[in-house]
Amino acid sequence: MREQLDQLLRDAREKIPMAPDMAALDVLELECLGRKQGTLTAVLRGLGALSEAERKVAGQHGNAVKQDIEQLLAAKRAELTRARIATLAQDEWVDMTAPGTTLPRGAVHPVSRAISEIAAIFERIGFIRSRHPEVDSDYYAFEALNMPVGHPARDEWETFFVAHATGGGGKKKEGGRIVLTPHTSNGQVREMEKGLLPIRMVNIGKCYRRQIDATHTPMFHQFEGLLVDQDVSVTHLKGTIDYFVRAYFGEERRTRLRPYHFRFTEPSFEIDISCAVCGGTGFLSSSFRGVRNEGSRPSQDQATKCKTCKSGWLELGGAGMVHPNVLVSGGIDPKRHRGFAFGWGVERVLMMKYGISDIRLLYGNDVRWLRAC
Ligand code: DAH
Repeated sequence: MREQLDQLLRDAREKIPMAPDMAALDVLELECLGRKQGTLTAVLRGLGALSEAERKVAGQHGNAVKQDIEQLLAAKRAELTRARIATLAQDEWVDMTAPGTTLPRGAVHPVSRAISEIAAIFERIGFIRSRHPEVDSDYYAFEALNMPVGHPARDEWETFFVAHATGGGGKKKEGGRIVLTPHTSNGQVREMEKGLLPIRMVNIGKCYRRQIDATHTPMFHQFEGLLVDQDVSVTHLKGTIDYFVRAYFGEERRTRLRPYHFRFTEPSFEIDISCAVCGGTGFLSSSFRGVRNEGSRPSQDQATKCKTCKSGWLELGGAGMVHPNVLVSGGIDPKRHRGFAFGWGVERVLMMKYGISDIRLLYGNDVRWLRAC
């Protein structure tokens, strides 16, 4: 038995130091010292066949061998643990003081920002933002706005028509051709049809026209104001325009109404606002250049023409008193109610406010430009 025990110890001395990892070491421990299947247990089973004196000696030797093996296992376990910690420090090293990776941060697009700003300005005087279709029937885009089929005024809007079978079961409103709305004015009659008076709405949405240059893109945005109530006059329209222009562009800006013609308003106007660069004078004198010289108009010989406006005024957009025919289209009695409306470009006011010279920059997706904007 002594020989068997010594052999067992020799085997263990050979194998244990060679164990490549903890799992292999566990297997070896089970092989040597396992209570049921272990080799030591198997050898010690032979104790019963020995005399009492021999059993005592062999038992003590067996214990010594067991302790030696346990020491071998513990030493190897400690070695493997040290090695693992060493590689862990190398493989999974993290510099806790290094700056984190920053994710790129997005921002609201300048046009979306302008839309929120415009909506908030009108909200303060009771105009509720409403949404009307951006793809609509010819009826709401033109006909209900006093522009019957074939009327030449329609040509002013470079309209996209949708290749679409006429819908609506032949009904006039949904029938006819489908257009990508060339203006937000289609919201006027749709708002009136809700049957809720008085109306104070601002419809902000996308519009589409077949145009592209420094001041036009095929897709752009307009905001359409509509007020319908009793005893409404041009004075209310002018007051609303003044309020918006001061709130959006600045307190010092002035407005003027210039007679114009639209089919859906009577009288109609183009709205101009005073130029910020020359203070509304149209001239920049050398001593005045860059300074707001509101009111005082330098004589021509000491001044050069303002390149931004050439006249002191910049064109904002159209407005007017709602035409009686449009009120009738919306089911409103023109003898009892009147209204005013205006429709201006979101990109246009944004460009005027910040001096952006080309509308295409807004849609060029150049993040460097957008970041600076
Ligand atoms: N819809 C017109 C356009 O796109 C602008 C306009 C003019 C809107 C007069 C109005 C208005 O509401 O009263 O050119």
